[in-house]
Amino acid sequence: LNYLVEKDRKFIIDTLTSGLSRLEYRGYDSAGLAIDGENERQILIYKQVGKVAAVKKLIAEQKDIDFTKTFISHTGMAHTRWATHGQPSTVNSHPQRSDSKNEFTVVHNGIITNYKELKTVLEKKGYMFESETDTEAVAKLAKYLWDSQKGNNNLTFTALIKGVVKELEGAFALIFKSVHFPGEVVATRRGSPLLIGVKTEKKLKVDFVDVEFAGETDAIAQEPNPEASFLAPTDAVHGGGKLRRSQSRAFLSEDGLPQPIEYFLASDPSAIVEHTKRVLYLEDDDIAHISEGELHIHRLRRDDGMSAVRSIQTLEIELAEIMKGSFDHFMQKEIYEQPESVVNTMRGRVNFDTRKVTLGGLKAYLATIRRCRRIVFIACGTSFHSCLATRAIFEELTEIPASVELASDFLDRKCPIFRDDVCVFVSQSGETADTILAMRYCLERGALCVGVTNTVGSSISRESHCGVHINAGPEIGVASTKAYTSQYIALLMMAIQLSEDRTSLTERRNEIIDGLYALPGQIKEVLRGDSSLQDLSRDTLAKEKSLLIMGRGFQHATCLEGALKIKEVSYMHSEGILAGELKHGPLALIDENMPVILIMTKDSLYPKVQSALQQVTARKGQPIIICNSGDEGISEQYKTIRVPRTVDCLQGILTIIPLQLLSYHLAVFHGVDVDFPRNLAKSVTVE
Ligand code: G6P
Repeated sequence: LNYLVEKDRKFIIDTLTSGLSRLEYRGYDSAGLAIDGENERQILIYKQVGKVAAVKKLIAEQKDIDFTKTFISHTGMAHTRWATHGQPSTVNSHPQRSDSKNEFTVVHNGIITNYKELKTVLEKKGYMFESETDTEAVAKLAKYLWDSQKGNNNLTFTALIKGVVKELEGAFALIFKSVHFPGEVVATRRGSPLLIGVKTEKKLKVDFVDVEFAGETDAIAQEPNPEASFLAPTDAVHGGGKLRRSQSRAFLSEDGLPQPIEYFLASDPSAIVEHTKRVLYLEDDDIAHISEGELHIHRLRRDDGMSAVRSIQTLEIELAEIMKGSFDHFMQKEIYEQPESVVNTMRGRVNFDTRKVTLGGLKAYLATIRRCRRIVFIACGTSFHSCLATRAIFEELTEIPASVELASDFLDRKCPIFRDDVCVFVSQSGETADTILAMRYCLERGALCVGVTNTVGSSISRESHCGVHINAGPEIGVASTKAYTSQYIALLMMAIQLSEDRTSLTERRNEIIDGLYALPGQIKEVLRGDSSLQDLSRDTLAKEKSLLIMGRGFQHATCLEGALKIKEVSYMHSEGILAGELKHGPLALIDENMPVILIMTKDSLYPKVQSALQQVTARKGQPIIICNSGDEGISEQYKTIRVPRTVDCLQGILTIIPLQLLSYHLAVFHGVDVDFPRNLAKSVTVE
């Protein structure tokens, strides 16, 4: 938070901590913040292991803080940490500092891979480290560069941090504050997301980006736009011309008073959306400097070909969308949102009258995709399962060979990728490090990269050649639910659109599109069974240690995703098993005590699943069967979970929902913090 408007310290602390609370959904183990002390040459740091509430309490207990003290210009920073280097502990929490006087404080998201080398060099020079974090090396490096240029009165905060960033390897979003540059903030990123929200009531007449080396290449030698305004509907920030001192006063109104302006820097828009919806996403190696109410963006290196325009976008999420409403947990809310979220995914794309699908983001690339040698789907976690769930229909409709890869394994294997491959990156957040790295690997090899994400402006949206936003709305619960069903539909729509030139498949496509039309109503019907699922989890499953979920064909992905949900949120062991593999191993686990769920919906594989049922019952197993409403063929001896019947390739959307609900209820019975399961994070921005 950086602002130029008179506010008191309580406001500053509240703004920082409430911003952190909005990020709680991402999962973290500790939190901290840094603000100015009694004078602008003093920085106070408060850190605590645990929830944001713990830091708030720590600050509230400080006897010597004057909460009413006001500041006209101030920079505050705050952070929630999810441990990568070093245990969760106060000293390892951020902000990290350069020395006991807090001359430089840093918050960091990501990993500095060469921190050990930096630490060794700095230790040799006499800098003492207190934490086990990679981030501390960044703060110490800033101090080292400062110390070694003592007496250089022209050293700017930006120049100093440029010097720091040049030494760093890895992925990072960094924010710096310093007693030597009071009221100023420098922020930079490489690989990890960082955005700047701008809030002001005044129309600003200033070119507020200074690309230092402007004029040296044509690309950035644009004239500054004197009318550039944060409030204009389609404003963009243009680089051009060195900042002249006279311009730096542009934030003063006619009577010489500063115009109120606040900047909010965050890794995720949810942290700032309650203050402003006007945001600018930084690109890799941008170095943003804010001082005296002005924002300037510099580049780390000259002539790197990067555009000197950063547009200010208007976020479309409402705070209400990221709040729980009347539900007990975000996960529950998001499960219940699915009748609407699937409609939002299809809105404006599926025409149910003409039975046509049009994905605007792919239009220009359809011919290239149809010509490709193969399609490789790459993702992690739940997003990986949505790819598995739709692979068969993709192959059937497009007749293009398709493979599905876990991003980490894909990278480990250095999978061969060629120019005539199409790679589809599926990620709710659009910021999962493994998936981004896999995408960059494919970009380097010349493949066409398609992004499927839920986050506009995310790294995957920006860096892919084309793609589809799934439009499911913000997903807060760490365990993904509505994003799964929306990804499923987005991938299916993609397959339908790609196959539209195959007339022999018209009937099949029409059947699926009619199925999509009926889907929201059918999801509502599944949700109406929630209370019996709650009973089932309490009476039958909550006391168990383990649960096997079996199925095959289109339902295999449901088994894996259902088991992942149960593991993630209820901490109960669960395994998704391909029913065809039963006799090759898992059958050994079956006896009268092993809880089993069998998915047996009416599709072409029904007879094969029936034989799996026999194999299980022959070993005294008593499976709970997920089957279609009206399926009379299932003996009354079995407990059943009934879901409406739909087209085979859509059935997985209706079978996953009971498993989402079961896992939710199991988590509640086990007293788990449903939205923030231990050791997990919503967005895993480290490899
Ligand atoms: C984390 C989350 C999972 C998610 C996975 C992939 O592990 O806990 O719920 O499925 O990341 O995330 P993405 O944002 O790429 O879909």
